[in-house]
Amino acid sequence: MGLKVALTYNLKRKTDNTGLPDDFYSEFDSKETIKAIADGLRAGGKEVFLVEADKGLLNWFQNNKADIVFNIAEGLNGESRESQVPAILDFLGIPYTGSGILALSVSLNKTLTKKLFGQAGIPTPKYRLITDPSEVSDEGLMYPLITKPNSEGSGKGITMASVVRNRAELIREVEKTARVYQQQILVEEFIDGKELTVGILGNYPPTAMPVLEIDFSNCKASGEFFYTWKVKEFEKEVEESRGLSPNWHCPARLSRAEEKLVKETALKAFHTIGCVDLSRVDIMLGKDGVPYVLEVNPLPGLDPIDSNFPYIAKCAGLNYGDLMNRIVEVALERHNKSKSLALQERSSR
Ligand SMILES: Nc1ncnc2c1ncn2[C@@H]1O[C@H](COP(=O)(O)OP(=O)(O)OP(=O)(O)O)[C@@H](O)[C@H]1O
Ligand SMILES: [Mg+2]
Repeated sequence: MGLKVALTYNLKRKTDNTGLPDDFYSEFDSKETIKAIADGLRAGGKEVFLVEADKGLLNWFQNNKADIVFNIAEGLNGESRESQVPAILDFLGIPYTGSGILALSVSLNKTLTKKLFGQAGIPTPKYRLITDPSEVSDEGLMYPLITKPNSEGSGKGITMASVVRNRAELIREVEKTARVYQQQILVEEFIDGKELTVGILGNYPPTAMPVLEIDFSNCKASGEFFYTWKVKEFEKEVEESRGLSPNWHCPARLSRAEEKLVKETALKAFHTIGCVDLSRVDIMLGKDGVPYVLEVNPLPGLDPIDSNFPYIAKCAGLNYGDLMNRIVEVALERHNKSKSLALQERSSR
């Protein structure tokens, strides 16, 4: 039998008639994505077990054996939810794909991530963190600004109204976002420029794949002018005439020098957060030529149809199934290397 791979995930459910916000499950994965990953791994000769990352997870790993875990679980609760499955796996000593507890916790906190960027000299938009919605500060910031929940992904809480042009709009948006998402709100200067995202794969060294540019010029019918939740959720599902399908350019339309700068900056962000195996780094290339890093996504979406990361890999010559197997390969290589380093260290004592 082939390598035993457990695929850990949180399943996307419908929010209809539940009273939950439309975007409640947006971070989670669809049955189609889970099946596509499993099919890809099986085609690569692996034995795959599907393990939903709910309260039964610990029990599953205590009663079953896996050589490695393919982890796409976003976690259920709490400020470090993306780290929960890796924490359990570290505790049990089971290797897994993707970044560890620390990188997943830090990257889920956009402000903390930006502080580390600041220390590392990585450009990131100027910001303020609003901890109390009744005390909104825009001191030192230039409008337009954008508001976002400090610890979400998949565009949750990001709509066209999140871009605010004056203090009154800012106060209204901060209050609304804090009420819905019950967390601190990040306010950033809104960068006018090119929307880019860089897929990074591997470890020795990590490689930046071709840069993807997301171009919203054909979204006039909807008025969406940046990567809002609505565009992220519907970009590949609805007819183009609704204006929710931006153009993807991969490689991005950049000069050689811009491409080099963007890739180097993305790799620096990857290293600064302590990512391994794979990540997607979101960048706005400002009109001033500065690659402002918005965030790092160590658990990038792997939907075979509408996620950026598999699309980027395809542009780099890796089809979906090959990408899934490659992710396992790089994780195993890293794990084996760290094991042999630990042995070397022990024998030299
Ligand atoms: N400071 C900014 N300037 C310009 N656009 C921004 C800024 N911050 C966010 N955006 C826009 O909003 C989108 C979503 O922002 P961000 O990447 O921070 O959110 P997210 O929910 O974590 O996204 P993801 O789906 O990548 O997890 C960006 O891709 C970009 O289009
Ligand atoms: Mg993003």
